[in-house]
Amino acid sequence: MSALLLGFDLPALLLGVAAALIVTLVLKSWGQTPANLPPFPGRRVPIFGHLLVLGSEAREKLLEIRKTTGDIFSMYFGGTLIIVLSGLDVLKEALVKQGDVFVDRPVGGFSRTLKIQNGIIGTSGSIWKENRFATFHILKGFGLGKDVMSQKIVEEINLYLKYLEGLSGEATNVQDITTCAASNVTCKIVFGKRFEYDDTKFIGLLLSLNEYMTLIGGGNFHTLFPFVKYLPGDLSKTKRLVQLDREISGEMRHFIKEIREQERDGLASSNLVTSYIERMEEKQKSAEHTELSLYHLDRIAFDLFVGGTETSSTTLLWFYLYMIHFPDIQEKVYEEIVREIGTDRCPTGQDKVGLPYTNAVIYETQRLASISPLGVIHRCNKETTIAGYTIPKDVPIITHLDAVMRDDKIWGDANVFDQRDF
Ligand code: HEM
Repeated sequence: MSALLLGFDLPALLLGVAAALIVTLVLKSWGQTPANLPPFPGRRVPIFGHLLVLGSEAREKLLEIRKTTGDIFSMYFGGTLIIVLSGLDVLKEALVKQGDVFVDRPVGGFSRTLKIQNGIIGTSGSIWKENRFATFHILKGFGLGKDVMSQKIVEEINLYLKYLEGLSGEATNVQDITTCAASNVTCKIVFGKRFEYDDTKFIGLLLSLNEYMTLIGGGNFHTLFPFVKYLPGDLSKTKRLVQLDREISGEMRHFIKEIREQERDGLASSNLVTSYIERMEEKQKSAEHTELSLYHLDRIAFDLFVGGTETSSTTLLWFYLYMIHFPDIQEKVYEEIVREIGTDRCPTGQDKVGLPYTNAVIYETQRLASISPLGVIHRCNKETTIAGYTIPKDVPIITHLDAVMRDDKIWGDANVFDQRDF
């Protein structure tokens, strides 16, 4: 109405805006391509770049592309140039030999949508370095990779087994309680507390986390076309993703607040949050410049909770599935544990050396399940060369771990669970 009053024809105006948007997108998606890049899989299309090549089966398609382009290739996702490292040697070259050059994370994508500038997983430079160092130092102090940590896991396993026994053989979907048990190990270390398997509020948080991981893991339209978040509705699920991020972050802040209140009352148990704050205050008192802050702690709690929950529980669920499908392997694992340890106690990390078969079955589960097929995106912080190709500064790097986990040259028939004895 107001458009008409001002002398505009509304449909023509909308058409004009849409045309302007399309022209902007085409221009944006058609910048000059740098020289000597790794090969591209097919033709680049305006607006979409090489996205249409991926189709709906992107995971399988990426493996196929590697067969034609080789272990390193380039793609335009919309107007964004991305380089995919798709073989063991190129991944080692980038992440190990040139680790300092490939250590950073991209500034756009999810970090921009979710406004992440703190914590570990989404940061780079001195913020990442000091916060990562402090976090892993504290975790090591709590026994990461040592027997103290094993003890915490064994305590949780005993409660988990007791809960399952309590079901008296009744069929149950183990997904929720397995996720809760896996998360409890992280929560015990980070917040000094665990949650009961029937705690509906906590289960609700884990369901939100599951949805969050699905949205993040599936990639998201908005990271390529940020304007979609301004469209009505939520076709791209961007608004839902932001809402879930806020919800989970809010819970993390709530747990941290509880710990600080307990601390004031002299009741706090040992946990990562308290140790981080102590370390931060020491640095602040010494007037030394520090990147440790409560702002970063909020997101570190988030990173550990999110990073430690779905990954561990999904791996466990794949392990169950493989053991159901391969009862002979299950029997051999059981025999080895009974022979080496007996049935009076759970195995711990210390027993690893005496359980080579069990260990191999766990590794094979991790390989074939390949639960992090594209890893977490890196960024190349200065122009460099990999396998003779130029990798421009600031280009996002996909670490195509799936290609290594499913490489026939390394594993033989990589798509099946290796059942050979060794
Ligand atoms: C089976 C279990 C797990 C898998 C498969 C897994 C996988 C990964 C992968 C692929 C990365 C990206 C590494 C890179 O930057 O290239 C990563 C990073 C990370 N993971 Fe895990 N993870 C697992 C368990 C955990 C646990 C239990 C925690 C914490 C309690 C955790 C916390 C983190 C953190 C904080 C990062 C970021 C590290 C950094 O930016 O330097 N993860 N994980």
